[in-house]
Amino acid sequence: MLSKKVGKQLGHPTYSLTGWLVSKFFKWHNQILEENAVKLSNIQPNDTVLELGHGPGFGLQVASQLLTGPRGKLIGVDYSQYMHQMASERMKEQISRGKAVLYYSDLVAMPIEENTVDKVFHCNCYYFWPDLNMGATAIHRVMKPGGIMVTTLRLDSVIKAASMGVLTGDKWRPEVYMEALQSSGFTDVRMENKKERNITFQAVFATALK
Ligand SMILES: C[S@@+](CC[C@H](N)C(=O)[O-])C[C@H]1O[C@@H](n2cnc3c(N)ncnc32)[C@H](O)[C@@H]1O
Repeated sequence: MLSKKVGKQLGHPTYSLTGWLVSKFFKWHNQILEENAVKLSNIQPNDTVLELGHGPGFGLQVASQLLTGPRGKLIGVDYSQYMHQMASERMKEQISRGKAVLYYSDLVAMPIEENTVDKVFHCNCYYFWPDLNMGATAIHRVMKPGGIMVTTLRLDSVIKAASMGVLTGDKWRPEVYMEALQSSGFTDVRMENKKERNITFQAVFATALK
């Protein structure tokens, strides 16, 4: 019962005490994943970069510092109104300068033109999508040919969450997501183990083939 409630808030935080606690947990547990997803995306100053399921917006903040070119642009998509508002507040300066735009939207319906995004990153997000093939296809649609997608996760924590019933089914397994990426038009799909500040995490990479 409690694990289901926590899983629901992790996947779609709402204005509530649990939603607020979950947003604090994101910073404490996930900041290293957000920072490394940005680093591994190899963002260039004039790239168009998209973060899916940005939550409170810590990764958006890091990515925005790299988009220093006149054409550099950051897009965020999250279907939690609470997270959308929290991240909009955090990013208000970049939004007001037209350097960032955040959409309150399900990623399968994101209002982004096809073939326009150079880099996509997301952390702790795909396990909550109802259909991984639809999610991967939606990402592939907006990416430029040769664009790079990176997702980071702490597999040990994910396995623990699944064993406690916080995550259900087998969509949390990286290999299931990697299969969905492959069948949605991505190539060079691979997972690598990484370590920083004594924390081991995983990064999944994929290149949009078009
Ligand atoms: C576990 S949180 C991770 C937040 C942040 N990336 C981090 O690692 O701290 C998952 C986030 O993805 C968002 N999300 C989940 N499924 C989504 C979907 N289908 N479309 C858009 N956002 C989604 C949730 O609202 C939530 O903010």
